[in-house]
Amino acid sequence: MRTPFIAANWKMNGTRSEVAALLDGFKSGISTESRQVAVFAPFVFLPAVQDALQGTGIAWGGQNAHTADSGAYTGETSLAMLKEFGCQYVLVGHSERRTLFGETDYIVADKVEAALAAGVTPVLCIGETLQEREQGITGEVCRRQLSTVLDQVGVEGFRKLVVAYEPVWAIGTGKTASPEQAQETHAELRAYLAETDADMAAQLQILYGGSMKAANAAELMAQPDIDGGLVGGASLKVDEFTGICNAAA
Ligand code: G3P
Repeated sequence: MRTPFIAANWKMNGTRSEVAALLDGFKSGISTESRQVAVFAPFVFLPAVQDALQGTGIAWGGQNAHTADSGAYTGETSLAMLKEFGCQYVLVGHSERRTLFGETDYIVADKVEAALAAGVTPVLCIGETLQEREQGITGEVCRRQLSTVLDQVGVEGFRKLVVAYEPVWAIGTGKTASPEQAQETHAELRAYLAETDADMAAQLQILYGGSMKAANAAELMAQPDIDGGLVGGASLKVDEFTGICNAAA
């Protein structure tokens, strides 16, 4: 049985006071009984996130990381630095990293491998664009994004990561994939991975991301192959994100 997992991706948002208010609200309103919850914060807020969430059962992570431990990579942040601030997780390959910052499937695979080696759980983000969906190649795109990583880290690596399926056309648009659409792709992804290793595929948490809200979360997560959510905009509102987390049963 897979544990429900709800994660907040704050992206590049927040002030110190807004972050403090969000963290206070999450601490008082979210139960981590029988569910996993994590917050992916901008790097600059990780010390505050660690101070606030330490010991609460809510985990946290970075939204990206460089593969090197240190060096002449101006502006980058290493996995070792994320671990300095108690990060258990790191987002890898978010569609915004892929489209805005040129992260290829191979760069993503390298980052997943580095995160696993550092003992930080990667949340591998995949998903198709609207054009790809309209072309009917959603499955092909997602399988390619998965296989590049699987080829590099193998079944044992996949046992230690989480996948987030985020149809790009649903991110930040309010156009949430229907529960049926999301379930269809989640099931296809799990079936594809089961061709390699049925046990790994069965235990893999596959989260949905793309305009998940408190109002639609329960129906989405009621689907057999949707194991939780990676939440953007709604995670910047205490009531919304608390509602999503508490809908995960
Ligand atoms: O990583 C989660 C994010 O891409 C989803 O964003 O605002 O559609 O929930 P949003």
